[in-house]
Amino acid sequence: MYANFTKHTGIKINRLDGKEDELLERIKNEGANGPADLLITVDASRLEVADKAGLFQPWQSKVLEARIPAALRTPNWVAFSTRARLIVYNKAAIKADMVQTYEDLALPRLKGQVCVRSGSHPYNLSLGGAMIAHLGEARTEEWAKGLVANFARSPKGGDTDQIKAVASGECGVAISNSYYLARLMRSSKPEDLLVVKDLGVAWPNQKSWGTHINVSGAGVIKTAPNRDAAIRFLEYLSSDEAQAYFADGNNEWPVVSSAKVKNPALDSLGSFKSDALPVGQLAANAVLAQKVFDRAGWR
Ligand SMILES: [Fe+2]
Repeated sequence: MYANFTKHTGIKINRLDGKEDELLERIKNEGANGPADLLITVDASRLEVADKAGLFQPWQSKVLEARIPAALRTPNWVAFSTRARLIVYNKAAIKADMVQTYEDLALPRLKGQVCVRSGSHPYNLSLGGAMIAHLGEARTEEWAKGLVANFARSPKGGDTDQIKAVASGECGVAISNSYYLARLMRSSKPEDLLVVKDLGVAWPNQKSWGTHINVSGAGVIKTAPNRDAAIRFLEYLSSDEAQAYFADGNNEWPVVSSAKVKNPALDSLGSFKSDALPVGQLAANAVLAQKVFDRAGWR
């Protein structure tokens, strides 16, 4: 994906890969003389943190405006792929109709069944941000309390750990990002395929506001020494060719509808109705979501 950009434009890319929060801190600390032109990372709430910290400048590009749906960009950052936060359940323990919405997971009938990672993780904060937008703060807090009351265990590990705990029967149901499931489905390891064999997957909230989606995205750094090249790279990321690399490489969906991706795992999960809430709005609610989850005891 990066090499093709250089091939098309002659612009060389100096890429530094690292943990999300460390990159963010580094750009902050380097300040006005920093060499960074772009930050590419995952999760709307994390992009919002970077934006709130003043790291980005407006991207301003007719190409991006035309290519990226309005709900998947803000003036300062742009989404390039989407992932869904879905419900995974143990088919032997849980009936599909019990876990059709995020709200279902907080009902008393699922006592002792729910596994989910920490309430302060950006994936859950973005989900909380979406729920606050749809249900309001008070109902989201009630929901979080009900969810915590249903925990099979204290939150630990990442989404893949929750999926594995569902497969082993330690939990009946879990919340996970779609690409973790797709990754297991596409794995060449027999033990991974065994994990997915007995799982059911539900697209939450198909009859109401739609399944919560989150994004991978990027923004141009305020002090970018090569601003124009940075914007050209973002425009390249919106091309059909780069969209296919970007989305498929991480088992996500492209944001540009004309981009063609053949991903057998995602294809087998089928299509779904996604939440139409603009990503900027759910990101803006994430700070409040943290307060709500803290009050609800979702550590
Ligand atoms: Fe992830």
